[in-house]
Amino acid sequence: MSDKITGTTTGKPLLDVLSGHKTARPPIWIMRQAGRYLPEYRELRTQAKNFLDFCYRPELAAEATMQPIRRYGFDGSILFSDILVVPDALGQKVAFMEGEGPRLDPLNGSLSGLKDEIDLEKLSPVFETIDRVKSALPASTTFLGFCGAPWTVASYMVAGKGTPELAPSRLASYRDPAFMQKLIDLLVESSTRYLLKQFEAGVDAVQIFESFAGALTSDGFRRWSIEPVSRIIAGVRAVRPDAKIIFFARNSGSGHIIAARDTGASAVGLDWSTDEEWARDHVQTIRPVQGNLDPLLLVAGGEALDRRIDKIIDTFSAGPHIFNLGHGIVPETPPEHVARLVKRVRGE
Ligand code: CP3
Repeated sequence: MSDKITGTTTGKPLLDVLSGHKTARPPIWIMRQAGRYLPEYRELRTQAKNFLDFCYRPELAAEATMQPIRRYGFDGSILFSDILVVPDALGQKVAFMEGEGPRLDPLNGSLSGLKDEIDLEKLSPVFETIDRVKSALPASTTFLGFCGAPWTVASYMVAGKGTPELAPSRLASYRDPAFMQKLIDLLVESSTRYLLKQFEAGVDAVQIFESFAGALTSDGFRRWSIEPVSRIIAGVRAVRPDAKIIFFARNSGSGHIIAARDTGASAVGLDWSTDEEWARDHVQTIRPVQGNLDPLLLVAGGEALDRRIDKIIDTFSAGPHIFNLGHGIVPETPPEHVARLVKRVRGE
């Protein structure tokens, strides 16, 4: 890994960091940067009959992707979609209830209601969205695709909704590991093909979201998160050896080291509970890191926000770093706080 400050090599600073280059200031993007904190997003959202319809209408999804780029000029643009389009394309019923989050028909210990393989044809609107965004983005912006990691997506498929401590999927992994393994294997295969298709459609890099890494034991983390994610990364690289892939294993603690060392990820996302000095010494020495401002500090704003931004930048100036939040931005965030964040990260 290079630790020198180099001139940009691809013309895209974020992509350069993913190749191990250190930049003078960290490039910045924000998880869930297209979303309800933006008035223009709320306005656009009224044109779709529900959230999945929104994701599957390329003209709307492309516009949602572009909104935060126009407003803030982020270095990274993330495709507007959702991790739950994968279960949808596997034939599971998925719906988003207003104010309640996602609802799926829970699997009940069997894969019999699912297709044998992902229906990529059903996801063709996503690839059309990528095509549209690609031609609209500034040349220096890195275009990011994504998918959920198998354990996180499986947790929704088993429980049928978000649950605070993931009891349904944790129990299934103990009571019926053979079933859980089959489901995870199906998601490894599906996610690999889905990410490859996103690259083919034009994204520059992808992020794998393991939002529920923190619910696993250390053995479970290796079996249900590290192993399947490593297989996805290897599968993508078998076709695209240079593919840049960020792995965000939220709340995985010392697991961030394993994520950096054992998965083949190009960079590792850090949640806000991760001690940045520890991460500098133990994670950033292995791979570039991304993160890790608390999204609620961005809601609060003020002096404390400024101090924290500076601390994160200073600490991770030791090596390659992408500035981001430690999880998704929340709807209560004042848009002007985001503008302040971007200016400060850029030293303006
Ligand atoms: O980051 C981006 O701007 C790209 C788009 C994106 C969305 N979801 C849009 C979205 C991405 C990358 C996701 C990932 C996602 N979706 C994750 C992993 C990241 C994380 O947050 O941990 C998860 C767990 C989901 C599942 C999901 N989708 C939930 C739990 C919800 C409801 C939560 C809520 O805030 O209401 C969604 C809906 C969703 N996905 C929204 C957006 C902008 C809000 C829906 C709306 O506009 O009504």
